[in-house]
Amino acid sequence: MMILSRYAILAIFTILITSNKATTTNIVLYDLRPSTTLSLDDIYEYAHLLGALSGLMNRDIPRLFTIYNDSDLRWLFYMASINWPQDANYMEAASLVDLIKFFSDTIQGVALYDPIVPATSNLASTASGVYNLIPICYRPVPNSLYTQLVVEGPQLPIKVNFVDMFTGNITGSSKADAYLWATEHFLDSKLADSTYLGYYIDKWWSQSALASQAVFEHLAVNHDWIIKNRGFLFDLSPWDDEAPNDDPQQPIGTDYNTLITLLKKSYQQHNGTKFSTVSGFVPWLFKYVNEKHGGVPSEWRMTHIMSAFNVVIDADACCADSFANAAFFSHYASNQSEKRFIQNVLPSREELIQKEFLNEQNIVSRKTYSLYYAGDYDSAAWLANKFKNLWDDPKRGSVPVAWAVNPNLYDRFPLLQPYLYQTRTANDFFVSGDSGSGYLNPTQLFEPRKFSNLPRADNLWIERNRFFYNKFNIKHTGFVINGDSGMLTNDSDTMYTKFSPLGFTRQQGYTTLGETALIPGTRVPSFTETDLSGKDEVQQVLSYYKPNDVRFVVFRGVLRSASSYADIAEKVQQIQPNITFVDPYTFALLARIHLSGNYTYNDDLVSYVDDNLPKLISTGDYVTVNFSIRNEGWNTLNELDLKLTFACDIEYVFPWNIEIKHGNIGTSCYQFQVECNQPGEYKVVYQLFRGNTSFEEFGNVPWISSVRLV
Ligand SMILES: *[C@@H]1O[C@H](CO)[C@@H](O)[C@H](O)[C@H]1NC(C)=O
Ligand SMILES: *[C@@H]1O[C@H](CO)[C@@H](O)[C@H](O)[C@H]1NC(C)=O
Ligand SMILES: *[C@@H]1O[C@H](CO)[C@@H](O)[C@H](O)[C@H]1NC(C)=O
Ligand SMILES: *[C@@H]1O[C@H](CO)[C@@H](O)[C@H](O)[C@H]1NC(C)=O
Ligand SMILES: *[C@@H]1O[C@H](CO)[C@@H](O)[C@H](O)[C@H]1NC(C)=O
Ligand SMILES: *[C@@H]1O[C@H](CO)[C@@H](O)[C@H](O)[C@H]1NC(C)=O
Ligand SMILES: *[C@@H]1O[C@H](CO)[C@@H](O)[C@H](O)[C@H]1NC(C)=O
Ligand SMILES: *[C@@H]1O[C@H](CO)[C@@H](O)[C@H](O)[C@H]1NC(C)=O
Ligand SMILES: *[C@@H]1O[C@H](CO)[C@@H](O)[C@H](O)[C@H]1NC(C)=O
Repeated sequence: MMILSRYAILAIFTILITSNKATTTNIVLYDLRPSTTLSLDDIYEYAHLLGALSGLMNRDIPRLFTIYNDSDLRWLFYMASINWPQDANYMEAASLVDLIKFFSDTIQGVALYDPIVPATSNLASTASGVYNLIPICYRPVPNSLYTQLVVEGPQLPIKVNFVDMFTGNITGSSKADAYLWATEHFLDSKLADSTYLGYYIDKWWSQSALASQAVFEHLAVNHDWIIKNRGFLFDLSPWDDEAPNDDPQQPIGTDYNTLITLLKKSYQQHNGTKFSTVSGFVPWLFKYVNEKHGGVPSEWRMTHIMSAFNVVIDADACCADSFANAAFFSHYASNQSEKRFIQNVLPSREELIQKEFLNEQNIVSRKTYSLYYAGDYDSAAWLANKFKNLWDDPKRGSVPVAWAVNPNLYDRFPLLQPYLYQTRTANDFFVSGDSGSGYLNPTQLFEPRKFSNLPRADNLWIERNRFFYNKFNIKHTGFVINGDSGMLTNDSDTMYTKFSPLGFTRQQGYTTLGETALIPGTRVPSFTETDLSGKDEVQQVLSYYKPNDVRFVVFRGVLRSASSYADIAEKVQQIQPNITFVDPYTFALLARIHLSGNYTYNDDLVSYVDDNLPKLISTGDYVTVNFSIRNEGWNTLNELDLKLTFACDIEYVFPWNIEIKHGNIGTSCYQFQVECNQPGEYKVVYQLFRGNTSFEEFGNVPWISSVRLV
């Protein structure tokens, strides 16, 4: 990790603070780094306070920026370079007391928690978001935050007090009693929004023997995103066969049973109409992991359980996961004029012939086609902390790479994807990371759902992924991971074909279909990944070479730079030029022809790249709309229909008589009158048709949006 010198850091402050522009955005800057030399109690408590302040102060507009880590400085530079927030005027707060005074209009008081029941620190975070309070630990000793802010200084009033509230008289565990109370008080009442869950270690962190070796890993700054959204925080063991190390006296299974109750109540808030996202992870460095249960088994156990309750994971896993300022950054999304993020066009047949991947008879050349999956960005924290440095690399573009970013991370960290799409080269392509728009185990979406017995949620998953894949023009799922949930099934494969038409790559060993296969009845190819091992990767890649044959292999790298991929490819190709590295979409198109023997499978592919349909309409309005469609397939498109389903579910059929050649965008303009007179929110869907056959049948996800009639 790059460490900026103190001098460089001061220079940034000077640039930002002395700028004399007409200012429209005042932002308070707080440097939290000095707190990391305090006691472990203070380290947690200061970070927790800043996490809460960031969530509250940045709820509606960006107002407070915390400097805690290199990555915060990197993004501060970047934001200045793009002038966002517009003409920002940064003012550094000299002390915490000043900071609290500055924001006294928003802070209603204190949620006081009990260090004897460390779980109450998470209850205090939930209360913070719900009631606009700051979480403070009850430690009546000199210089504690309790002393500085409650006893002395601003003497903030205590509005919620968890001290001495939980004794274990209900479950035999004060920890579990605290969470059970919280599920009733915050989830049953809907005071907290269960769409935003946080799985972050509680104040017990300060007593962990490992804390002093990992001073950023309490992740208390990460609470900001949950607090901004009035979400719910917890930290419970997923294991039911032993007591957790932070509560060894509890009856076995108490944490686990509490977790299940919490997830049931979370589900009940929206009754299966949405997915929840849990940001965070099993805190495996400190808790729940031992000789009996390792780190990866604990991750898989957690995912197995969460998936059963429609919860996807935004996996802030150790040790790249300390992430302040998400609440601040999230506002960037509202200022992105670009509605859709469009990738490089798919290759034409002629390009593949020219590269000698295909001959004139449409036979795929006997080579080993290799795809780099560059992940795993299934956590907004990892994405923000690690990816920009790995991407900003002079060798990027010298070899094709499938960069694997879960598109849903845009909600919590929208700064990076626009930059990636703007600065991509002809060799940079995007796929999703783990499992799609959120990390889960796909077969857990089908009944019977172990742990929950809830109804199936495959259609909800299809709908969610269609939205995010459309927005980011993604057509391939990079790493379908099923962990402890068993083999992937026909049902789960079919589900992926509905939103990931140019294929998906599975975790190794999870299918009976074989290394590479078309999903029966579709044109969708599926592949198998191999983890780049790190020992001798060149030999590893070479070992997959299949002489005189066609083979498709996916090499998965985690947190590697563009140079790392380029260097391996260069060495491999010196030794075996029949191993060739291709992008994910060339990979898919070649696999489709090779596996089917039918080159027309690559016809009739499109991307719906733009439209200007209104979002708000009234009865009788005349709507004039342009649709722009890019031809990604190998045939020339013309004489089609565009069918639009609009307000009141009325269908309009427009003739599409604009010729579009491969790689080109055709735009067609239509006018229609709104006949609907029932106010409300309506789903909007459009796609091309040839006669009565929708382009969906050829592997094109329809465009889906919404309109409100007033
Ligand atoms: C930034 O945070 C990570 C934990 O995510 C930590 O490992 C690293 O040491 C921190 N770096 C600095 C300079 O603060
Ligand atoms: C977004 O842009 C609008 C106008 O373009 C501006 O008024 C607003 O302050 C911006 N919001 C943020 C968070 O930058
Ligand atoms: C547990 O203790 C609390 C107070 O400490 C009390 O209000 C509650 O009634 C007790 N519950 C049971 C089941 O004993
Ligand atoms: C929850 O959804 C199920 C299935 O759609 C439905 O039968 C049930 O009535 C709903 N329950 C509530 C409380 O809305
Ligand atoms: C899954 O699909 C394969 C190929 O179509 C078929 O042979 C197999 O019987 C199916 N399995 C189940 C459980 O439906
Ligand atoms: C590459 O593949 C072709 C066709 O199978 C074969 O003739 C040639 O010997 C291979 N080259 C190497 C270096 O293995
Ligand atoms: C190839 O696929 C097309 C559909 O794209 C189908 O109409 C045609 O019959 C297929 N050809 C062969 C030889 O299977
Ligand atoms: C539609 O696109 C055409 C050019 O293709 C342009 O002249 C026209 O202004 C656009 N109409 C709307 C409503 O955007
Ligand atoms: C489309 O379907 C309709 C109704 O099923 C039928 O009347 C029409 O002839 C079909 N058109 C074509 C081109 O197949």
